[in-house]
This record gives sequence, structure tokens and C-alpha cells, in this order.
Amino acid sequence: MDNIITICGGGSTYTLPMLKTLCDYHNEFPIAEVRLFDIETKKMEYIYEAAKVMFYELMPDVKLKMTIDKEEAFASVDFVFMQIRSGGFEMREHDEKVPLSYGCVGQETCGAGGFAYGLRSIRDIIDLVQAIRKLSPNAWILNYSNPAAIVAEATQRFFPGDQRLINICDMPIAIMDGFAERLGLKRNQLKARYFGLNHFGWFTNIYDMNGNDRLDEIRAGLREARVMPEELSQDSGWQETFEMLHQMVSDFDAFIPNTYLQYYLYPKSVVKKENPKYTRANYVMDHRLKDVERLCQQIIKNKTVQGSSLEKGVHGTYIVELAKALTGSEEKEFLLIVKNQGIISNFSKEAMIEVPCIVSSRGIEPLFVGEIPTFQKALMEVQYGYEKLTVDAFINEDDQAAFQALTLNRTIGDATTARQILDALKIKNQGYWPNLK
Ligand code: NAD
Ligand code: G6P
Ligand code: MN
Repeated sequence: MDNIITICGGGSTYTLPMLKTLCDYHNEFPIAEVRLFDIETKKMEYIYEAAKVMFYELMPDVKLKMTIDKEEAFASVDFVFMQIRSGGFEMREHDEKVPLSYGCVGQETCGAGGFAYGLRSIRDIIDLVQAIRKLSPNAWILNYSNPAAIVAEATQRFFPGDQRLINICDMPIAIMDGFAERLGLKRNQLKARYFGLNHFGWFTNIYDMNGNDRLDEIRAGLREARVMPEELSQDSGWQETFEMLHQMVSDFDAFIPNTYLQYYLYPKSVVKKENPKYTRANYVMDHRLKDVERLCQQIIKNKTVQGSSLEKGVHGTYIVELAKALTGSEEKEFLLIVKNQGIISNFSKEAMIEVPCIVSSRGIEPLFVGEIPTFQKALMEVQYGYEKLTVDAFINEDDQAAFQALTLNRTIGDATTARQILDALKIKNQGYWPNLK
């Protein structure tokens, strides 16, 4: 039967490219209906109008609906693709600026910013998953909403046996696009071996289609020159990030780190480069947000997607390929966030880790990793302690757990600063956070 898909966070800047991917995959991944769901119509409205033009042009047999009603959104669906931003860009701006004003990393998903965002996201995600499970007990819920590490830790505690709720991230594959371009290959010709927590991991091997491990060659290339995926190359923030990847492989001998490790390994350099008055949230609002609106208006006005700059992009491609693999007959590999349960043998069995998995209609089968080395393990232990305490703080409304979480986080690492940042974030997050006591 053809699939019904709901995009939760229908007004997201990523929705239109995701819908374009669904159009491009229509023959391989048949769908009957797509529903856009959001808590407000402001952005979703023009995305919906542009998508109507696109569907009419590229897959006229597929129904498209838009709603702010959970019942309508989640009744009898096969897939929910989640990409919500709890508190919106306005709160992201505080997440970035408050820690920076205390000299610490201010980032969407890492450090105190990710902590603040996590405490906002958990409630929304739990409510949504409960509503989905009531209306569609067997739907696959594929979640991109950040901070994915905290969301994953929270969802495994609230919905422990739920095998059809999967948290995912597009960063490792975006990095792999850069590797593939450098080798003159396509990403789907490479297979990664990788371990870590979300936004906190390492590539250990990159195999090409002949089974040769190309990691050392890529590492050598990264030391000589910058490797940046084409898709991100016009974005100044990502240029700086990939500059730091060059730094990381030059300083550390083993593996290739995820770009997000820059925030934990070089917090001082990162902070020095930031403008505390104009952060990434401001950049995204001034660029991606406006670009999407402009693109939609252009498509609506011209009544065609032809001649527009609409591309499917890595983000949409990854989730649609995952959905396709879950229903298809072929086995495919994806990096997913799953419960450890011995995959990394010398790490907590309870932790949510990011590792390669075989995906097929059988479901998700993670590949064994084994023992990891002391340095990476120790970093992960500290980060996992932070993640657990953040979710504890939410569940028990526990100020002490929140304070311990921030003290542990390597982007802060100082109890006095942790307290100051926590108190300042509490004020900004009134009405969003639990009442920490
Ligand atoms: P955005 O603000 O443009 O989109 C989010 C949408 O979610 C908004 O339209 C908002 O109204 C809606 N929303 C907020 N709360 C909601 C709720 N409770 N129920 C339904 N809808 C709700 O943000 P964006 O930049 O497009 O990013 C969307 C999300 O995707 C963010 O969480 C972002 O961090 C995440 N993301 C994750 C990855 C990943 O690798 N995991 C990659 C890219 C983006
Ligand atoms: C990558 C990460 C996401 C993150 C996004 C930030 O794709 O994997 O988790 O949300 O980058 O992008 P932005 O452009 O919003 O800073
Ligand atoms: Mn991510």
C-alpha cells in the first residue's frame, strides 16, 4: 500500500526540499498522501502553497494537506518525519547569546545552548509521540528535531520499548559528502564505520565499493587542504567549521572526528571567533529563513518549480532513503542513534549512541563496534553524564541535576560559571522549561 507521511514541523525551513525529495523518489518510494502539521500556519502556509504547485507538476496523484490539528495530522499514518524547533529561532538566539556572555560556547545543540534547547524540546516531543502513538500505533517516527542526543535519551526513557521511533542526524553524511567529492565518488559508494554520541563521534573507517579503507587518504587530504561538502560551501559558518576539522585531524592522530567536536576540544578558539551580538541564529534568520520564503513566493507566482533554485539536499534525501529502506526489500546502511546494549562493549549499555546500522523491512540492526580507546571513551563518558543529568533535571524538575549537567559539560567545565549560566537561562526560558527546584 502507498504510504501516508506527515511532516511534523511543516513550517520548517527544511520542509520544501524534503517534499522535493519525495517527488524525486516517487517511483521508488510510493506515497498516497502528505500532510504538513505545525503549531502555527505563518511559515507553513507559503510552503504549502508552493508545494501544491510542485505536487501538481511532479506527482499530481499524491494528496497534499496542511493542518494544525493533531488528530487530522496523525490519524492512520505510516511515517512521521519530525523537525520541530521548540521555542523557535527567538529562543535559539538566547541559547547562543547567554552562554557567550559568560565566555562559553553558545551553540544550538552543544554546551549550555543545547542544554536549554533540550529542556524545551523534551516536553513537546513527548506530547507529539503520545499523540502519534494514540492515532497510529505502528507508524515509523523518524525524528530530526534537536538536540537529537537529549531527545533520544528522553524518548528512550519515556517510550522504552518503542522500536519504531528513531532519532537521526544529517551531519555525518554531510561530512561524508565532502569526503566522497574529494575522492571523486558519490556518497552511496562509500560505507562508514563510525561511533559516538550524537554530534560527538568519530569515523574509524571509510570503505569504498572495492572494500578498500580510504580513511588514511582522506585524513592526509584533510591535513593538506580543507574538505567541504559543496552543498555547505556558500555558508560562512560552515566554512569556519570545516576549517576546524582540518585543525582536529592535524592535532589528533586517530580517526576523523565529527565537526561538532570542535566545540568540546577547542571551546576557547570557538568563542574567540564568535560575535556575541550576531550569532548563527541571526545568520539563519537572515539567510535560510528568508531564502525559503522568497523561493516559495517565486514558485507560487510562476506557478512552476521549473527555473527555481529548489534542490532536494542531503537532509531530505537521508530521511526519505531511510523511510524507503524500512519498507523496501534491499538492505542498506545508515548511521542512526540507537541504544548501546553492548554495541560499544566498554560503554554504558543504556546510552544512546550513533553507529552504522543495517536497515531493511526487518527494521534496524546495529553493527557491532567493540572496545573504543581511552581518550574517546573518557570524552563520551563525560558527555553522556551531561546528557543523562539533563534528562534527569527535566523528569525530576531538579535544579541540582541541571547544575551538575552544565558543570560536567566540557564547553563550561567550571561550577561558578555553570551556576551563572543556568540562572540566566532559567529567566529566558520561563514558560518553556520545567520549574527547576
Ligand atoms: P524552523 O523553526 O524553521 O522549523 C521548525 C518548525 O517547527 C516551525 O515551523 C515551528 O512552528 C514548528 N514547531 C515548533 N514546535 C512545534 C510543535 N510542538 N509541534 C509542531 N510543530 C512545531 O527550524 P529549522 O531550522 O527548519 O529546523 C527544524 C528542526 O530540525 C530543528 O530542531 C533543527 O535543529 C532540526 N535539524 C536537525 C538536524 C539533524 O541533524 N538532526 C538537521 C537539520 C535540522
Ligand atoms: C547540521 C546538524 C543539525 C543542525 C544543523 C544546523 O545539519 O546535523 O543537527 O541542526 O546542522 O544548521 P543551522 O544552519 O541551523 O545552524
Ligand atoms: Mn545533527
